Amino acid sequence: MLIDTHAHLNFSAYKNDLDEVMQRIIDDGMRVINVGSQYSTSERAVKLANEHPGVCYAAIGLHPIHLFDMEVDEAEMPFTTRQEKFSAERYQALARDPHVVAIGEMGLDYFHRPPKIKEEEFERAQRWTFLKGVQLAMKLRLPIILHCRGAKGDEHRPYLHMLKVLKEAGYSRGVLHCFTADWPIAKQFLDAGFMISFTGVITYPKTKLLEEAVKKTPLDRLMVETDAPYLAPQMVRGKRNEPRFVRYVADRVAELKGITYEEVEEQTGKNATEFFRLR
Ligand code: NI
Repeated sequence: MLIDTHAHLNFSAYKNDLDEVMQRIIDDGMRVINVGSQYSTSERAVKLANEHPGVCYAAIGLHPIHLFDMEVDEAEMPFTTRQEKFSAERYQALARDPHVVAIGEMGLDYFHRPPKIKEEEFERAQRWTFLKGVQLAMKLRLPIILHCRGAKGDEHRPYLHMLKVLKEAGYSRGVLHCFTADWPIAKQFLDAGFMISFTGVITYPKTKLLEEAVKKTPLDRLMVETDAPYLAPQMVRGKRNEPRFVRYVADRVAELKGITYEEVEEQTGKNATEFFRLR
């Protein structure tokens, strides 16, 4: 089964035609995990999962870019973030809904630093919030969807910080979403027990290092996602992304690994079903 393990149909990019996008998912017999990036979008992901049981599932969490007010230009879809302080109690209450299958996306993002915030304060706040998210996932026995992005020229540092937090907490039930780093980083996370998930970025030209990571990540540790509305695959690049385009990601995984599309669809679907305990 084709499963988009990370999309944001809960975002305003779909406010005008969500019904049509949803119908295409249903027609394709797919499943989608809608991921929250702050409390309001987490709540909306839960609502969508309740409206489409067996098709949509929800992940709830606070993305690190929402810890500070700032302007973000995400792949030509600019938005202003609103500051939120993580409340484990509020998220825990939301997680009582049985359609919530994961905590996330949470993690470390050293790429988007507002100029007025000092680096040390910025990173410390993120690590604190991330740890709270990990602790909540552990308490609720839910997997965690990990977001990690480094500053230009300093790509590895947040991954190492993240791994340290996770190892100290003793938790490995997580997936590194939208993986765009290199094989040595992927290997460290795989060795520590984590899953790796790839987006349409693997369909873009000039991604040699990333291609190596796709080739070397074992198929039973790998998942596919769109991160829609962002990161539309090369074949539809420039458009708003949507869950059905995850087939282009699966197709590229098959091509890089020299196996069939059907094998990738079946195994990644099985991986996602087990990892998120989808019913
Ligand atoms: Ni995302």
